[in-house]
Amino acid sequence: MTASWKTFQLSERAANLPASATLALAAKAGALRAEGKPVVNMTVGEPDFATPQNIVDAAFRAVAEGATRYTPTAGTPALRQAVADLCSKCHGINLEPENVVVTPGGKFALFSACQALLNPGDEVLIPAPYWVSYPRAVELAGGVARAIPTSIGQHYLLTAKELEANLTHKVKLLILNSPSNPTGAGYGRKGLEKLAEVLAAHPQVRVLWDDIYRRLVYDHFEYVSPATVSDLAERCLFLDGVSKTYAMTGWRIGWAIGPKEVIAAMTRIQGHATSNAAAVSQAAALEALTGPQDSVDHMLLEFTRRRSLIMKLFGGIRGVRFVPPDGAFYLFCDVSAILDEQGGTDEELADRILHEALVAAVPGTPFGAPGHLRFSFATSDENIEEAARRLKKMLGTASH
Ligand SMILES: Cc1ncc(COP(=O)(O)O)c(C=O)c1O
Repeated sequence: MTASWKTFQLSERAANLPASATLALAAKAGALRAEGKPVVNMTVGEPDFATPQNIVDAAFRAVAEGATRYTPTAGTPALRQAVADLCSKCHGINLEPENVVVTPGGKFALFSACQALLNPGDEVLIPAPYWVSYPRAVELAGGVARAIPTSIGQHYLLTAKELEANLTHKVKLLILNSPSNPTGAGYGRKGLEKLAEVLAAHPQVRVLWDDIYRRLVYDHFEYVSPATVSDLAERCLFLDGVSKTYAMTGWRIGWAIGPKEVIAAMTRIQGHATSNAAAVSQAAALEALTGPQDSVDHMLLEFTRRRSLIMKLFGGIRGVRFVPPDGAFYLFCDVSAILDEQGGTDEELADRILHEALVAAVPGTPFGAPGHLRFSFATSDENIEEAARRLKKMLGTASH
């Protein structure tokens, strides 16, 4: 007998919450593959490499030695110290373990930061295109997410003028992600200094700085820490994790770095929400941060090659424009020329591409950027080549 339930009335919060578009698209592509269709899946937001062996070995050892119990809520002392050491170096500031809370993934650091900082009605500025979870985490905390659209001409980076025009006394937080998912664009020093000058007149605004792609940057781009920019440094709460840098998406380890009272508040929230990040994963993350780093260099070399390949091949598709990514592993394509010519939305185009060309990409709309498609190049050369072939066949070849 199948189970039957009375109707449960969902909260408005849950009823209004859309599913993650990236996960939904990946599921659609997976369903077509299960039917035997040779879909090239370029939706994924995770490295296609295995977690490095030294990290896996450390996890096995840790379990054998008893890492099977609750840990302190904010993380094991060893991991908090390792994160503090690493980030002190990277940002040029003196961090102590009390400035660090280890979370079950960077995503939970975002969630609990919003829970810790926002009151109902507080406004949060989010430059668009943005990572799909930012507005949702803000809204789940009762905040009001306000997107600031940017365009390809400005490399999708927020300008001081736009920031100024959007700041009101209700704005409590600005979320910045550098390099960005989905655009790969990163902020240079000048751009950050200009944003900081604007913020100087708004002492109530804090910055949630998402560092998750900090280590995945390409040769021409120099990562700039906001901690080295005056008027920005003291306002930042940092969010990061091991998922992207060490191919550890499934281990679910992230962290936030910030002033001790905020970290303590986030720790209290975590204490009631998840207790702690998994003990075995924390041991693995400790090895990731303190062990050999050659696997990171190797992955970055691979991504560098694939980035060149996808830019060369996708540059030959009719109606597709993009900015070379500074970091991360996405090519964010402006397809407005195709939509102008053929009609329809980016979501409909993504659907057509999936069914006609058997290439799965994520439409721009859930990133707050209609008229775009995001292609992940965390996939093999063969997949990138095959996707380009199919898309050229469907959409035509660029004339330049
Ligand atoms: C911009 C950005 N921030 C944070 C995260 C969180 O990653 P995780 O929860 O795996 O640490 C992601 C993952 O896709 C991301 O793209």
